[in-house]
Amino acid sequence: MSAGNTRTILVPGKVNPRVRERLEREFEPVFIDRADPALMDEGARAGIRGMAAMTAISGSFIDAFPNLEIIANFGVGYDAVDAAHAASAGVIVTNTPDVLTDEVADTTIGLLLNTLRELPKAEAYLRAGRWAAEGAYPLTSLTLRGRTAGIFGLGRIGLAIARRLEAFGVGIHYHTRNKRTDVDYPWHETLLSLATAVDLLIVVVPGGAATDNAVDAEVLDALGTDGVLISVGRGSTIHEPALIAALEQKRIAAAGLDVFADEPNVPGALIDLPNACLLPHVASASVFTRNAMADLVVDNLAAWFDGRPAITPVPECAGLNSRD
Ligand code: NAP
Ligand code: 8YV
Repeated sequence: MSAGNTRTILVPGKVNPRVRERLEREFEPVFIDRADPALMDEGARAGIRGMAAMTAISGSFIDAFPNLEIIANFGVGYDAVDAAHAASAGVIVTNTPDVLTDEVADTTIGLLLNTLRELPKAEAYLRAGRWAAEGAYPLTSLTLRGRTAGIFGLGRIGLAIARRLEAFGVGIHYHTRNKRTDVDYPWHETLLSLATAVDLLIVVVPGGAATDNAVDAEVLDALGTDGVLISVGRGSTIHEPALIAALEQKRIAAAGLDVFADEPNVPGALIDLPNACLLPHVASASVFTRNAMADLVVDNLAAWFDGRPAITPVPECAGLNSRD
């Protein structure tokens, strides 16, 4: 079967409601339970020209669709999509940068304050009637006052976090592979050097092989006993067993985490730790921001199938985006 001029879009697994609604209005969507080519026969697979994905997309899954042109990923992080393989197969991958930057930065500041000042625990104390029964909530041993932050990944979101922290009077250092020429913050050539220089490490690099387990026992020990780790990038960047050990042994003071190695499974040892503040991957999770992400997913597909370049191709696929 030839894909012809149909605008048939495959949606494997869960989908954001606005993506579904717009696809149903503007395209011919096909929904399957998970990214498993066995769920479709060969003819149906040949009819697929685009994908809208909130799930992992492997190279072999891409190869099962001979007429696939574009994969629109729901999220700025696309570590779950084999973009290098897609590019080699001539398939363009898009993501959702910028539209979530401020929401994620706002949430990071909230997670940071919750971690330092124990606000969720203080509220739970009040709700349990303990304020009236036992008196004031204990003073917190940690504060943002006097801290220096190190941002591991000063990209779109990292810079938005840094700008917010400047307003809080917090000094900023950073580590990226390439020194930025548009900021004056001290740059560190290595993550270890950054962790040694600061007492608050904020991790917001993409996931994937280059950052896998980068925050390990050595980095945590360099952060020090008063050190605080905040992680909002990908769980794979943190060596989770090393973090649990460092928190248990008070080799760092506390951690605030929005992302985990094996979501939605969070290790019991982490849940049991009083000095860990945990969120279920909600940094971009407002209706406002998720709608903006949904629109960018579908707008990328619409641009492509209207014969225009995709709006936000990932760097691996930028060379495929000409429509000349
Ligand atoms: P971005 O603009 O591409 O920024 C990524 C930054 O990380 C850049 O400064 C980059 O600089 C640096 N970087 C990349 N690889 C690195 C490496 N191996 N070592 C050191 N630095 C490295 O991306 P963004 O829009 O800020 O998003 C960042 C990530 O946040 C996403 O990929 C996603 O995983 C995560 N995220 C999480 C949530 C959430 O809900 N928790 C929401 C949105 C995004 P160099 O290239 O110079 O190294
Ligand atoms: C979303 C994210 O939670 O954009 C990202 O990289 O991690 C978050 O905004 C995720 O993409 C939803 O699937």
